[in-house]
Amino acid sequence: MKISVIGCGYLGAVHAACMADLGHEVVGVDVDPARIEQLSAGRAPFYEPGLPELLTAAIATGRLRFTTDLDEVRGASVHFVAVGTPQLGDSYAADLRFVDAAIASLLPVLGPGDLVVGKSTVPVGTAARLAELIEGTGARLAWNPEFLREGYAVKDTLAPDRLVYGIRPGDDAAVAALDDVYAAAIAAGTPRVITDYATAELVKVAANAFLATKISFINAMAEVAEVTGADVTQLADAIGYDDRIGRRFLNAGLGFGGGCLPKDIRGFMARAEELGVDQALGFLREVDSINLRRRERMVDLAREVCGGSVEGKRIAVLGLAFKPDSDDVRDSPALDVAARLQELGAIVRATDPQAIGTSRRVRPDLTYVPTAIEAADGADAVLLLTEWKEYRGLDPAELGSVVAVRAIVDGRNCLDPGAWRAAGWTYRALGRP
Ligand code: UGA
Repeated sequence: MKISVIGCGYLGAVHAACMADLGHEVVGVDVDPARIEQLSAGRAPFYEPGLPELLTAAIATGRLRFTTDLDEVRGASVHFVAVGTPQLGDSYAADLRFVDAAIASLLPVLGPGDLVVGKSTVPVGTAARLAELIEGTGARLAWNPEFLREGYAVKDTLAPDRLVYGIRPGDDAAVAALDDVYAAAIAAGTPRVITDYATAELVKVAANAFLATKISFINAMAEVAEVTGADVTQLADAIGYDDRIGRRFLNAGLGFGGGCLPKDIRGFMARAEELGVDQALGFLREVDSINLRRRERMVDLAREVCGGSVEGKRIAVLGLAFKPDSDDVRDSPALDVAARLQELGAIVRATDPQAIGTSRRVRPDLTYVPTAIEAADGADAVLLLTEWKEYRGLDPAELGSVVAVRAIVDGRNCLDPGAWRAAGWTYRALGRP
């Protein structure tokens, strides 16, 4: 099929490359010339395992190209809209200006039989509004939310858990076109849910709200564990054995960040308020608060291991990305904690395997070093804030040989307390005795 992808950020770049990998002819469009240049050269503008290889291979087949010229989407019959919907600066609501601009720029090139497919995360009601705008061109609209996780984006796109098609009732042609696009996944048995626009839009935010709630639930248990001497990691294991609960997404620690969960739960609350059902989502305010309280608790623990104040103390920060296998620092709990400690007068030395460049762009005032050993050199405390594999595997004796004080705070409950204590470290963690 001939496909266009409007917006080549995280979602769009991965989607374009994966669609070409599946054999479709794809043109990716973005307004940022630097991004288009990078992608055209087969370079991913962000760290995502497997993406550079996929880009290079797909470009070599001639099936994938990138451009800033929207006119080049003419000839494609399916147009994916994959632009960002960040949180507005002055409210919880989502900023739809990029979605609106993408649709407005597509209108002149659309013709009868074309299908526009929204992938961006939008407030419920958006698709119905956009469908009206498109109607005059003879093209149709479907809403097909994306559930990819950073770090697993390629796998999640090629082999998704499920496909959701939000369509106008009875639009069989839209279903047929999407089935052609996703023929490989469907043949592999991926379940698909065919529904209306509103349900499709809600599925996306409901899924992220559920995941955020699961994380904040276990972090709330961590708060209780902290005052009772209980161990939240064992608690998570024990309740996780119940299939109805499940162990995944029950890792207590510094909480969630990134470009999706925080802004999506806030956008969902804002939309619920507009719809007069804010009470239904009141619990998400708590989910957000619990999440943000973990960052404060982390700063408190740093204070405690430093003897009451971090002022003038040398603190090593291991991890800056919002999660491992990513260089994304949008609303990153780790970067936030590093910055707060510096503001409290600590001498922070931070490191991350991939996210130093992205961190420096938003916090040029922090000191960055390439390795954990350099960050820990002479440190009064070490804070592990993103559970990269190389940090989980750190040798307590080796790290102990460079620090000034053997004190570590495990912000992700990813170290073996026994091993660190046996090597003479003071080990503290969120939700663990
Ligand atoms: C999330 C969803 O998982 C995807 O399904 C969704 O498609 C995506 O948002 C999106 O809306 O685009 P992502 O932001 O890549 O994906 O990251 P997650 O793997 O969900 O992790 C989010 C945050 O939760 C991270 O900061 C992570 O450290 C934290 N987390 C995760 C925990 O604190 N505990 C856990 O048990 C799991």
